[in-house]
Amino acid sequence: MAIQHHADLSSLNTFGIAAKADRLARFDTVDGLRDLLSTPEVSGAPLLILGGGSNILFTQDFQGTVLLNEMPGIAVVQEDADHVWVKAGAGVIWHEFVLQCVAQGWGGVENLSLIPGKVGAAPMQNIGAYGVEIKDTFSSLEALDRGTGEVITFNREACAFGYRESYFKRAGKDRFVILSVTFRLSKKPVLNTSYGNIQQELDRMGIDVPTIKDVSKAVIAIRRSKLPDPAVLGNAGSFFKNPVVPQALADRIHLEHPDLVSYPAGPGMVKLAAGWLIERAGLKGLDRGTHAVHDRQALVLVNRGGATGKEVFELSAHVLRTVEQRFGVELEREVNIL
Ligand code: FAD
Ligand code: EPU
Repeated sequence: MAIQHHADLSSLNTFGIAAKADRLARFDTVDGLRDLLSTPEVSGAPLLILGGGSNILFTQDFQGTVLLNEMPGIAVVQEDADHVWVKAGAGVIWHEFVLQCVAQGWGGVENLSLIPGKVGAAPMQNIGAYGVEIKDTFSSLEALDRGTGEVITFNREACAFGYRESYFKRAGKDRFVILSVTFRLSKKPVLNTSYGNIQQELDRMGIDVPTIKDVSKAVIAIRRSKLPDPAVLGNAGSFFKNPVVPQALADRIHLEHPDLVSYPAGPGMVKLAAGWLIERAGLKGLDRGTHAVHDRQALVLVNRGGATGKEVFELSAHVLRTVEQRFGVELEREVNIL
């Protein structure tokens, strides 16, 4: 159980922000985690569980212990004629998990190809893309209660999943360490190609009768063309959620801007494309030297090199203020701010 002191976190967050942690340690077993949590220098201080660091912005050094989740393993735990239940360790890289499922012909997560990060963080905000969220295939998860050291199983209802939401971001915040997630995948996959330009991409690839592997490839190609690669340009994906607003407010904006991008979101509510709002507020590509609003996807803020977390946070505050003034819509940050 090695604990590193004054650890550099720059390579552990996809924004590439230079921040330090008082202590850094890794765990790949439940016992190892329990040992770390009961160590006096860890037990009395703030704790941050880190996966791939792809949904986090460090605005200051972390005065506490960062625990890197490296819980391994992918295994089939149950099977019937139509479905397979696959349990993945929280430290498994999400995209590697997806690729294994796709290779086995297990359907349900192929639209979530190439989302950065680890399996253990996926339930935190119910990751989603291209018309699919993990709640659609989620079966259960195991998490260690930081207070009691007990391992608890959560079913889907207990996770209270919503759009970029879960129990673990709300009432359960900072109480649990997710150890593994079990998914119920289909042996007879029904493809979901209706969202965005998946079908267009499949046509471009010359594929008439797609498999889940083809859908995965199409999603990967679309994502590569739209989103900046954190290895090249620091970012954490969408910095804000797409806001859900009352129909009347959407109608007002629509009157002035017939090209407003919106989606139905339940009775009387509409989800607006935050990228559209930010672009139309004149902020797309806004360049502040070390950091910027991405010039191809306005929902993404980028570290062009040497930005501090405080600077990126201040840019996000400027975006929030400007969109609110321009459209009367309050954006909410998706990225976890520390
Ligand atoms: P981290 O950033 O390490 O952690 C995120 C939060 O979860 C933190 O609060 C952390 O403390 C907590 N946490 C992490 N692991 C655990 C655990 N085991 N137990 C308890 N708490 C934990 N997201 C989408 O939903 N859809 C997308 O399409 C998408 N595209 C992206 C594209 C790019 C280029 C990037 C950089 C990010 C994108 N994201 C997307 C956001 C991000 O990839 C996801 O939120 C991902 O699930 C974060 O995983 P992580 O392991 O990096 O989490
Ligand atoms: N748009 C603009 N200008 C922009 C960006 C987008 O007008 O600068 C418009 C697009 O033209 C499109 C609409 O907004 O009509 C939606 O854009 P896109 O398809 O790129 O998706 P998004 O709503 O911006 C969401 C998720 C992504 C996910 C994609 C694909 C959120 C907050 N973001 O982005 O998730 O990959 O859909 O499903 O819901 C993430 O959460 O980090 C993330 C990247």
